[in-house]
Amino acid sequence: MDIRGTHTPLLDWSGDAIALGLFENETALTGELSQLNEKTGGILAELIEEAEFEGKSGSKAVTRLGSGSPIRKLILVGLGKKDQLSLDTLRLGAAVVARVGKQEKAKSLGISFPAVNEDKEKTTAAIAEGIILSLHQDNRFKSEPEDKPSKLETIDILGFGEQKEAINQAQTLASGVILARELVAAPANSIDPVTFAETAQTLATDYGLEIEILEQEECEKRGMGAFLGVAKASDLPPKFIHLTYKPTVTPKRKLAIVGKSLTFDSGGLNIKGAGSGIETMKMDMGGGAATLGAAKAIAQLKPDVEVHFVCAATENMISGRAMHPGDILTASNGKTIEVNNTDAEGRLTLADALVFAEQLEVDAIVDLATLTGACIVALGNNISGLWSTDETLTEQITTASEAAGEKFWVMPMEEKYFEGLKSPIADMKNTGPRAGGSITAALFLKQFIKETPWAHLDIAGPVWADKESGVNNAGATGFPVRTLVNWVLG
Ligand code: BES
Ligand code: MN
Ligand code: ZN
Repeated sequence: MDIRGTHTPLLDWSGDAIALGLFENETALTGELSQLNEKTGGILAELIEEAEFEGKSGSKAVTRLGSGSPIRKLILVGLGKKDQLSLDTLRLGAAVVARVGKQEKAKSLGISFPAVNEDKEKTTAAIAEGIILSLHQDNRFKSEPEDKPSKLETIDILGFGEQKEAINQAQTLASGVILARELVAAPANSIDPVTFAETAQTLATDYGLEIEILEQEECEKRGMGAFLGVAKASDLPPKFIHLTYKPTVTPKRKLAIVGKSLTFDSGGLNIKGAGSGIETMKMDMGGGAATLGAAKAIAQLKPDVEVHFVCAATENMISGRAMHPGDILTASNGKTIEVNNTDAEGRLTLADALVFAEQLEVDAIVDLATLTGACIVALGNNISGLWSTDETLTEQITTASEAAGEKFWVMPMEEKYFEGLKSPIADMKNTGPRAGGSITAALFLKQFIKETPWAHLDIAGPVWADKESGVNNAGATGFPVRTLVNWVLG
């Protein structure tokens, strides 16, 4: 499928289907639209009337044009209120168009949308992203996919010129999102710590990143007792992955992205029971998957920023060698942890990963993790929690996420709640009371950062979508690759 930008005006375009974006309550046919209406012999006006099309965001209407027409089908897409137009509206609108185009078996599709803030580059990129992400389908595990691939061969984005660079950028960004989606969607007997590390190795080879993979012995030498405690019961070796992107010029800043990488979370000896969603826990490497997805995009976009990507990959299993509930682990910063619940394993792996990241002397660290069910209870499935020790970093991530159309909510780093993690025998326990569970998880992580500006993203909800929504199809979403990349690009 070829996405192209073109100066061709709406009225001169010909092909299988043309999609028009219309604002809410602005469906009066003036200017170009009235000319198009004439050209279609009044079918545009009829469609608006018969479909009672009001331009509401996400709404659509389709009709066939007369047999003499150079265009076979007309698609209307609602863009919502004009004063609320944003890149994300267009991203979602483009997703609607792409899905209709696929359903209508169009080979060539034209899209005519308005620009956001007259920014033709960003507008084109957002439309391209919406198209690619909504059409991505994952049939790797089907012997005979019922979902046939789209017939779309060319999609023309009308009115903004060629925009080759913007379209390339969107394709690169989407390739990172898709890598994250495919890693998350792959089951635990396909993506395990070993194959996850192999994926990182392939990325390094293909895109020229530096890579260092610390094997168990090296992790032992570095005193990563918290990470290794979780890894103990697995028959597969833990892999501590560190990828580095270095620009050719002196970097403007140095950043680290740390992703929770549990390729499966059984809960350990505090095993997840019936109804706990244990069968969905292949997605517990969603943080690591997005970290690798961001690495893939960043390595190609080549910003003047040095970026470290850190994934402590393992699985949380049960066996005679498993860590016991009540065990005391010592992390690589010397702090001791009483493991009062083996199912709070993500924070244990992240503890050593954060200590490692801070030793890299970066300017800021962001970790992302499918950390707590409590965060889903608090914010639902579409919004990620954001905790930070640094206001500037909070602002940077908020801005990056708004441009990406990925939602975050700033949560309190309520120091007083650390009382809930006090242990009579060790420096801390790994879990506190049920109430405020996502906050105590963030406070636990904070014990492993000394002074570097740091943010923690609890992405337990948004990594997975039960049904199609926006640019996401049902399944893995690739959240929050786009926010991470925007943040690094600044
Ligand atoms: N991976 C889970 C969190 C999770 C739950 C992610 C649901 C996605 C969907 C995490 O390791 C976990 O088990 N957390 C426990 C913590 C508890 C033991 C304090 C939880 O949320 O129940
Ligand atoms: Mn768990
Ligand atoms: Zn987990």
